[in-house]
Amino acid sequence: MRLEKYIASAGIASRRAIKRAIREGNASVNGTTILIPGYPIDVEKDCIRFEGRQVEPLTERIYLMLNKPAGYITTRHDERGRPTVMDLLTDLPKSIYPVGRLDLETEGLLLFTNDGEFAYQLMHPSHEIDKTYIAWVNGVLNKRSLERLRNGVEITGGKTAPANIKLLDVKNALNMFTKKKTNKYGIVAKYRVIIHEGKKRQVRLMFKAMGHRVNRLKRIRIGTLRLGNLPQGQYRFLTPAEVANLKV
Ligand code: URA
Repeated sequence: MRLEKYIASAGIASRRAIKRAIREGNASVNGTTILIPGYPIDVEKDCIRFEGRQVEPLTERIYLMLNKPAGYITTRHDERGRPTVMDLLTDLPKSIYPVGRLDLETEGLLLFTNDGEFAYQLMHPSHEIDKTYIAWVNGVLNKRSLERLRNGVEITGGKTAPANIKLLDVKNALNMFTKKKTNKYGIVAKYRVIIHEGKKRQVRLMFKAMGHRVNRLKRIRIGTLRLGNLPQGQYRFLTPAEVANLKV
């Protein structure tokens, strides 16, 4: 078996992170540092160490979804002690980690696992798994802006791939007492956005590139998996069928 695959199967980190760590000299086989992620190992005989610890094969695989509230960072540990998504996962093994990320203020569907291979496959750009978001945006986009977003726009991180965008609802955004506009349009529009990439702050930056601000963003679906009515801040395990459907 390949070194990186074995370490990933032990549920230590995502395959991408493991590859990087191996190249940086953080893995050894029988006491010798190995810098090649694909290095062949004998799982029966070899002693593998990763980031200073012996790697034991994993037995139980865990897959769960969290309905992330705004205000939690997607990381396993924050140096500055801010709330992280891990704070919402009580009574679970420490070996689980988030698959991909939602930014601090983004809500909704976030997956966790200790299955490195599963996380790697799901995140790999070549698989182009659709992710569906609901975006509450200041103002309604004009036809031209909408067309540009649908075709792809330039944001930090490069040009976005074609996106599926649908206007779902339009509401007045007026202060309930003064009746003054709470944004320059006096309107908040609700859009459904489907993308398959994961550029940093992609949905927010796409609307920003058209001059519109996203007030609230929620991910409701990854591939075939829906957030459904899972309450905010709660998690649940995926069913075997849900896991199988996500495997590509
Ligand atoms: N797009 C964003 O802008 N933020 C996220 O968290 C996910 C997608």
